[in-house]
Amino acid sequence: MHRDRSCHSGLACYNDPMPVTIGRLRESDLDEVMRIEQECFRFPWKRQFFLADLNRPESLCLGAGADGRLLGYAIVWRTGDELHLANIAVAPEVRHQGVGAELLRVVIDHGRELQAKRIYLEVRLGNSIAQQFYRKFGFFQTYTRREYYPDKEDALVLEREL
Ligand SMILES: CC(C)(COP(=O)(O)OP(=O)(O)OC[C@H]1O[C@@H](n2cnc3c(N)ncnc32)[C@H](O)[C@@H]1OP(=O)(O)O)[C@@H](O)C(=O)NCCC(=O)NCCS
Repeated sequence: MHRDRSCHSGLACYNDPMPVTIGRLRESDLDEVMRIEQECFRFPWKRQFFLADLNRPESLCLGAGADGRLLGYAIVWRTGDELHLANIAVAPEVRHQGVGAELLRVVIDHGRELQAKRIYLEVRLGNSIAQQFYRKFGFFQTYTRREYYPDKEDALVLEREL
């Protein structure tokens, strides 16, 4: 994240009343990323997964911040003419205040700039809040990946056109 709140990434900056600034993640953000990741997921990504994405040209790693603090992040992979939303999370104490929506809006804008055709993701069958979040943004279910997660829970595959 850019602590001065300016965006140097070439992506649009979005502000809401918090205000939240969206910018590219940096390696120096990873301690905060890992704290949020471990609070959000039963099987959190390892630090080196994020590090690898920071160095991969086809990955977009976004952070949402306010007052010098990281509030959430999104990791997106470009695969051909599709975007795969590989990870998105918002710190529990600032959820349902629009942070995730700002991240997703920037991801969608980025996909359009790249002229990608669609964006897709996997979400746990039992993660109804995330499903509501995605459906608000026009995602719809295309199929189910049986026993996709390490604990054998199914994943719904959701997608939307860009
Ligand atoms: C899913 C997640 C990223 C959403 O981020 P967020 O900042 O809390 O979401 P927003 O405040 O931008 O909400 C946008 C919309 O999502 C839905 N939503 C978000 N939180 C919700 C809740 N607690 N209950 C019901 N709907 C909710 C609503 O439709 C909301 O629109 P509204 O504000 O008009 O009601 C966040 O809940 C999160 O980090 N969850 C844990 C990690 C996770 O599950 N990631 C997704 C893995 S696939």
